[in-house]
Amino acid sequence: MEKKARGEKTVSLTCYDYPTAVIMEEAGIDLILVGDSVGANMLGYETELEVTMDDMIHHLKAVKRGIKDACLVSDMPYASYKDVETALINARKFVDHGADMVKLEGFHENIIASLTADGIEVIAHIGLNPQASAERRAFGKKFDEAVLLIDGATRLEAAGAKMIVLEKIPQKITEIITRELSIPTIGIGSGRFCDLQILVIYDIIGFAPKKFKHIKVYGDIRKALKQAVTAYKEDCTSGGFPADEHANIIPLEEFEKVTYWMQNGVSVLGNTRPISGNNGFAKNMDN
Ligand code: KIV
Repeated sequence: MEKKARGEKTVSLTCYDYPTAVIMEEAGIDLILVGDSVGANMLGYETELEVTMDDMIHHLKAVKRGIKDACLVSDMPYASYKDVETALINARKFVDHGADMVKLEGFHENIIASLTADGIEVIAHIGLNPQASAERRAFGKKFDEAVLLIDGATRLEAAGAKMIVLEKIPQKITEIITRELSIPTIGIGSGRFCDLQILVIYDIIGFAPKKFKHIKVYGDIRKALKQAVTAYKEDCTSGGFPADEHANIIPLEEFEKVTYWMQNGVSVLGNTRPISGNNGFAKNMDN
């Protein structure tokens, strides 16, 4: 809110794991969302509808361990806010596990008002809402839809939403929404006028199998990972790995005691050699 008042941009990304959270903190990402996109990106699910509360909490806890300053947001998964009571119970679980805010899709003013009254900060999410619709198209290209989005965004702010995600909405409409609202707008596939941008981390590092129009790719982790795994496999099969430098070394004098014991059946300390197999060895060690 302060940055919006100063006309400054803030930056956000999705994140699902501890090491990536640490890197995002180091890079100074302002807001980190544990999105339900974890399902498709990390868990091999077909759709967002499969993501559970347990999945979300598991990943939220991992990300939380890597966070110091960033604002940490947890997505509320499908059906976790099907009514006010359920929403209150589940949102409280996320806050108890370290979320600063929760995010939920759709025009649920009553739920947002109830969570806000309970002291839980909420980010609304309109436009493309993957939990509600399988249609992966842009929303707001027609007059009726554009009006619904502008009007709906205003009502969600009035209900208490502290920020709002605008997904796949035409730039001219998100410009209006951003101007009309006093809360920050977070854009994904919605052009340059939103106060913050958010993208799915796997999309910007070239890890996701699909490419979308709204994405800019800043790295090729898939290629780097494949190269490393293939090189490791080749090294293991060719005998290049492990080399002596990767092995644990027993000091020579200790090893000489082992070989003496192997050859003579009794060590300098009086240990006798095992009779045979593991049992004999264990028995001998016990003695
Ligand atoms: O789950 C997610 O990654 C999201 C972003 C697309 C905003 O909701």
